[in-house]
Amino acid sequence: MAEFSLPANSRYKDIPGKVHPAPAGATKVKTFRIYRFDPESGEKPRIDTYEVDTGKCGPMVLDALLKIKNEVDSSLTFRRSCREGICGSCAMNIDGTNTLACIKGLDTIPGEVRIFPLPHMPVVKDLVPDLTNFYAQYAAVKPWLQTRTPPPPDGERLQSKEDQEKVDKPSACILCACCSTSCPSYWWNSDRYLGPAALLAAYRWIVDSRDEATGERLDELEDPFRLYRCHTIMNCTEACPKDLNPARAIGEIKRLIAERQV
Ligand code: SF4
Ligand code: SF4
Ligand code: FES
Repeated sequence: MAEFSLPANSRYKDIPGKVHPAPAGATKVKTFRIYRFDPESGEKPRIDTYEVDTGKCGPMVLDALLKIKNEVDSSLTFRRSCREGICGSCAMNIDGTNTLACIKGLDTIPGEVRIFPLPHMPVVKDLVPDLTNFYAQYAAVKPWLQTRTPPPPDGERLQSKEDQEKVDKPSACILCACCSTSCPSYWWNSDRYLGPAALLAAYRWIVDSRDEATGERLDELEDPFRLYRCHTIMNCTEACPKDLNPARAIGEIKRLIAERQV
């Protein structure tokens, strides 16, 4: 097995991980280096090594994680549900990029596969980040329709096709947190900066032609930290596994706030 070397300044440098060699007769071995941490154990984090026979495994990184959990090490902990890029729960850092394990093909990673939890979040266990603050920020933008007038007599608040198309893309967000946890501004200010995922959700309701709280929504965001910590670094848009563009949505919110000031 090739020797695993971490950068000299890595906090995991001197912590020996466990090694799980490939089973006898394995024909297509791929090496996985996976972050392990159980805060309740009192032990420091470590990197464990698993050699997996990918010839007997599905094609995605999540398939390999499930194979490891089912056949090698049941203590390995991660979230997953839909296995098709819809629920957002298998978000993690794979090969240095935040993405969804269930849609990340093993054949897109030429060498060994390094897997860490989403960056700069508290870790519940192994690859499971604590998203409490992330969800609270989502709730803070009131991601639901707010109206002040009664609905029309037929009970439906209708929308033109063009208006629906404005909310179509941002509505596709699966709240995986890949974007917010790739954002340097969010890393350093996640207690006060809402981050790209929550701001994309805010934008989705700001541009909804049926919503009647646009002014209040913009008032809430006009704040040096909640919105203006975004410095248009664009990591968020790069990271989004659903091809959404939170950076552009944030720019649009800033423009709408600026326009109402003139
Ligand atoms: S564009 Fe804004 S939200 Fe996106 S990564 Fe950059 S600073 Fe963060
Ligand atoms: S914008 Fe994209 S990366 Fe961010 S939470 Fe939504 S789906 Fe995930
Ligand atoms: S398991 Fe649902 S997005 Fe990956």
